Amino acid sequence: MNLALRFPKEFVWGTATSSYQIEGAADKDGRGKSIWDVFCETPGKVSNGDSGLIACDHYHRFEEDIQLMAQMGVKAYRFSISWSRVLPNGMSDSINQAGIDFYNSLIDCCIDHGIEPWATLYHWDLPQHLEESEGGWLSDSISDRFADYTEVCFNAFGDRVKRWITINEAWVVAILGYGQGVFAPGHNSTSEPYIAGHNLLLAHAKAVKVYRSQFQAEQGGLIGITNNCDWREPLSDSAQDKAAAQRALEFFLGWFADPIYLGDYPECMKTGVGERLPLITEEHRNLIFGSSDFFGLNHYTTMYAAEANGDTAEQSVYGNGGLNEDQGLDLSVDDSWQTTDMQWAVVPWGCRKLLHWIADRYGNPDIYITENGCAYDDELVGGEVNDTRRVDFYASYLEECANAIDGGVNLKGYFAWSFMDNFEWASGYDKRFGIHHVDFDTGERTPKQSAKWFRQLLSVS
Ligand code: GAL
Repeated sequence: MNLALRFPKEFVWGTATSSYQIEGAADKDGRGKSIWDVFCETPGKVSNGDSGLIACDHYHRFEEDIQLMAQMGVKAYRFSISWSRVLPNGMSDSINQAGIDFYNSLIDCCIDHGIEPWATLYHWDLPQHLEESEGGWLSDSISDRFADYTEVCFNAFGDRVKRWITINEAWVVAILGYGQGVFAPGHNSTSEPYIAGHNLLLAHAKAVKVYRSQFQAEQGGLIGITNNCDWREPLSDSAQDKAAAQRALEFFLGWFADPIYLGDYPECMKTGVGERLPLITEEHRNLIFGSSDFFGLNHYTTMYAAEANGDTAEQSVYGNGGLNEDQGLDLSVDDSWQTTDMQWAVVPWGCRKLLHWIADRYGNPDIYITENGCAYDDELVGGEVNDTRRVDFYASYLEECANAIDGGVNLKGYFAWSFMDNFEWASGYDKRFGIHHVDFDTGERTPKQSAKWFRQLLSVS
């Protein structure tokens, strides 16, 4: 059967981006610095010394971008709001009207083109001022600052934005930002990730409280969080390896989803992390438990998990399970698996298994895949980018999404990462995730074969 017809009529098809990765205009119209501006200025942190200073210049070219989305036939656009463009020093007592105006224009443009705006409130670009004056995600006050900022956004945009995502990938902020130091703010610690993670959960929950108590009844939208997780397949049938894979998933996704859906951190984390894991007090639990109207999921790859065998060989920075020593497991990949330019394995069935794992563990919530995609460096030749590997990637992952729906999973939407090639964090502009090609010298956009494939798919959906 035609792939598109395997999805329900009301399925939300979309593409996704984030502010720092595409907007550029980082020093324009009153935007304050974020921790990523500063991280990019630190020698050796980002490939080629790249930064988001200009990026895709979406700030000036957003109309063209929304038109391209409309041509593809997507129903939704997931973008993120830059906190320091709206509040230059992060504090809600000083609002940058030019920032509000920009997002108003972007939102209006989406709606004019029949595209539903899905706004992420935090995609890693913390105002630098809050890093310096309060200690960023390690401080007790940061969750209140975030709640204040989100109130400004609900006030300004909530009449038209009906889908809110509070935090994108708390795991990445905590592990890559505070554990491995490969993302901003670049800390190396075995305790800070758990403090940052706790504050991210509180920030999410406080923002949801603001929305639900002051805006939701009148504005009628939904609010949730997006977490990322790869699938972990047991390396063997042994009870130990099965337990290791389960533990890996609980440390990855359970860390943030268990408190929201089950009311506490997973037992294995309490045991493995010990005193470094903050306590979810009764007060925290009241805030966090039940604080998501839908389950946002970013998914990219799969690895095998096995009981640790004492061999402490280096594991890859990306795609590993975080602070491995806390988890007592080893991760590996199968040599036969194809990989993308990120060296992430292409394993579509892992996506289906993860969707079922979420449905089983969290009471079959409405799930939206808010990111899935791949980096391949296909060249622009004669005005065309023939990215057949990306087309195969999307076709195979969507096939497994359809299988999951057939199997009873409440998957309600899918956003391709990314709408266009962009600033891929520590990899700079070296890694191209877009279904639209961007010439970073001229800013010119070209739909790749994959964008045309989506247009075809959505024309029959
Ligand atoms: C996600 C992230 C995106 C994008 C993608 C590809 O973790 O939310 O911003 O970079 O990975 O690496």
